[in-house]
Amino acid sequence: MRILVVGKGGREHALVRALSESPGNPELFCFPGSDAIFETAKPVDADGLESLVAWMKSNAIDLCVAGEESYLVKGVGLANLCAKEGIPCWGPPKESAQLEASKEFAKEFLLRNGIPTARATATATKDEAVAAIAGEYPTVLKFDGLAAGKGVAVCPDETSALDFLDEVFTQQRFGPGRVLVEQCLTGPEVSIFAAIVDDGYLVFTPARDYKRALDGDAGPNTGGMGAVASRRLISEDLLKQIDLEIVGPTVSSLAKDGLPYRGFLYFGLMLTPDGPKVIEYNCRFGDPECQAVMPLVTGDLAGFCLAGAKGELEPDLISFDDGWSVCVILASAGYPESSRSGDVIRGLETEGDFRVYHAGTRKNAEGAWETNGGRVLAVVAGAPERAEAVEKAHQAAAGIDFDGSQRRSDIGRLHFE
Ligand code: AMP
Ligand code: GLY
Repeated sequence: MRILVVGKGGREHALVRALSESPGNPELFCFPGSDAIFETAKPVDADGLESLVAWMKSNAIDLCVAGEESYLVKGVGLANLCAKEGIPCWGPPKESAQLEASKEFAKEFLLRNGIPTARATATATKDEAVAAIAGEYPTVLKFDGLAAGKGVAVCPDETSALDFLDEVFTQQRFGPGRVLVEQCLTGPEVSIFAAIVDDGYLVFTPARDYKRALDGDAGPNTGGMGAVASRRLISEDLLKQIDLEIVGPTVSSLAKDGLPYRGFLYFGLMLTPDGPKVIEYNCRFGDPECQAVMPLVTGDLAGFCLAGAKGELEPDLISFDDGWSVCVILASAGYPESSRSGDVIRGLETEGDFRVYHAGTRKNAEGAWETNGGRVLAVVAGAPERAEAVEKAHQAAAGIDFDGSQRRSDIGRLHFE
C-alpha cells in the first residue's frame, strides 16, 4: 500500500510513524513534510494542491491522509480533488470542513441539530458585537475563520472585549470576517476524536491538551504545550453520555444535512455543570493530542484508514491500549510570541522507553538536528498508570535540551491531583 500524508508537524510525524508500524509495510510519502518525517516517509515533488494530486495519481497512491486542516479548505479542497481523481482520502471534503473553517457554520450546525453548545450571536460590526455582549462578562469572542489558533478571546471585561473587537474589525488582523459573541462556559476541557465513515464512527482514546504556555495554566495561549491520553481520562458513564448526546447526533446530523464525512473529527468539549458541551469541531486529529494517542493504538491503522476512505468502517482492525500516555512539548525561545530557529538540539540520541516526535526541527549542514519553529519536539511515554507515564515522559524530556528550551513541568499532573 502506498500512502501519502499531508502536513509537516508533530501530529504528522506521529501519524506517519503509526502508519509505518501497520502490518504489510506500507510505503509512505509526505507533503510538505520535514527532515524528521523524511526518515520514514519519502518527500514529494509538488508545489500546490493541484500538482500534489496529479503526483498522487501518476504515482499510484492508494490513500491520502489529511493531517493538517488547511489543505482541506484551500482552493477546491484536498479531498474534493482526490475524489475527482478516484484517490481514497482520509479527511472530509471542503463543504464539511467548514465545521472547522467557519465558527458560524459550526454554530448553526450545532444549534440546528440540538447538539449541546454555548449560546452565540453572529455579528458583523463592532457595534453589533457590543450590543450582543449586552454587558455580560466574561464573554467569548470568536473570529469566524481560520486564525491559526489566535481567533478566540475569552474576555473578562469590557476593555479586553473592545481591544479584541478593534483587532478584528478595525485592524482586520485576520482579514475580513464576522465575530461570534458566545456565552462563556466553565469546566474542564476534554478532546474527543471520532473516526467517521459516513453514518458510522469509532471513538478513539480521549485526551486533554494543555494550551497555556506556563505551569498552572498561566501565560498566553499556545498551540499546545503537552497532552495526556487514556480511556480512563473520563468515566465510562461520561464517555457514554458524550457518545449519546454529542458524537452520535453529530454523525447522524452530518448525514442528514448532506455533509459527507470520512476522516477524523475532533470534538473540543467543555464538561460544564450542565453536562458536556461542544466548544469547537476540528476536521483532523488534535496536535499534540495525536502524539499522545497514537502510541496507544495497535493493529492496522493504515488498513483502517484505507477502508474508511473507501466507505467501510472496520473497527476490528485496530485496538486501544488501556494505559496512559503523556506528551511533553519542548518549545523554542520566545514561543508563543515569537520563535527562534537554529539552536542545536542535544540529547536526541538517547534511547529509552519513550518516543520523540519532531514538530519544528531541521538538519543543519553538519547533519545535526536544530530547532526550526515554535514547538520543536514532543516527548511521549506510556505506562499502565498515569503517575508512571508522567514520570517517564518528564524524565525523558529533561534529557533533551537546546538553548532557550521551554517546557511545562505539570503536564499530566495538573487537573488530576
Ligand atoms: P476554540 O478555538 O474555539 O477551541 O477556543 C480556544 C479556547 O478558548 C478553548 O479551548 C477554550 O479554552 C476557550 N473557549 C472557547 N469557547 C469558550 C466558551 N464558550 N466558554 C469558555 N471558554 C471558551
Ligand atoms: N490541540 C488543539 C488543536 O489541535 O487544535
